[in-house]
Amino acid sequence: MNIEKERHRQGLFITFEGVDGSGKTTQANMLCSHLLQRGLEVMSTREPGGTRVGERIREILLDRRLREMTAMTETLLYAADRAQHAAEVIRPALLRGTIVISDRFIDSSLAYQGVARGLGLEGVRNLNEWATGELYPDLTFLLKVPYEVGMRRVVQGQRDRMERQSEDFFREVQEAYLTLAKFFSHRMVVLDGTQKPEEVHHQVMREVDKHLS
Ligand code: TMP
Repeated sequence: MNIEKERHRQGLFITFEGVDGSGKTTQANMLCSHLLQRGLEVMSTREPGGTRVGERIREILLDRRLREMTAMTETLLYAADRAQHAAEVIRPALLRGTIVISDRFIDSSLAYQGVARGLGLEGVRNLNEWATGELYPDLTFLLKVPYEVGMRRVVQGQRDRMERQSEDFFREVQEAYLTLAKFFSHRMVVLDGTQKPEEVHHQVMREVDKHLS
């Protein structure tokens, strides 16, 4: 962590991670609404996307027709999206003292591209640290669900380029996430995503409150 770059942060950076269909988007929305109701300065965002440039990159990344995209191209596009997102949205908001809630961030690239696509954790980590000026979340929720549950929640006919990967791919992503949760145990909290959304939200709030008090 680059202390010099992080010194001026005042807000709180929270991310949600998990395989497709893990319920992280629902939880990010529930957390955002709850904190807004409390009158706090909150912003909700997502990756890929979150900026005008990023939403265009998202279209390319998730386009089912682009089957020829290499793992390296995919990795660089996610990093490009993140570079724009960090510079344009996340850092300025944190500097204003805002609580930023992002649906996915660097851990997605580490799990999906670094491990499941086989590009290696070190390279993907270096690339993303370079892209974001070593920006890391303060708190990350990893929602864990079995493959069958995740896939049931993703509508069959509408699966995007990433959601059309094999079952093995998703199992690798999940395993990779759990390894990351051990490595980044100071900021990552693993929650059982098969519970009712209200129960997960309750556990999320308990952790967030520790950071707000
Ligand atoms: P979403 O389902 O959360 O909208 O994310 C879109 C897909 O992009 C999802 O299948 C996960 C994938 N993804 C990566 O592979 N690497 C990344 O860095 C990010 C942010 C998402």
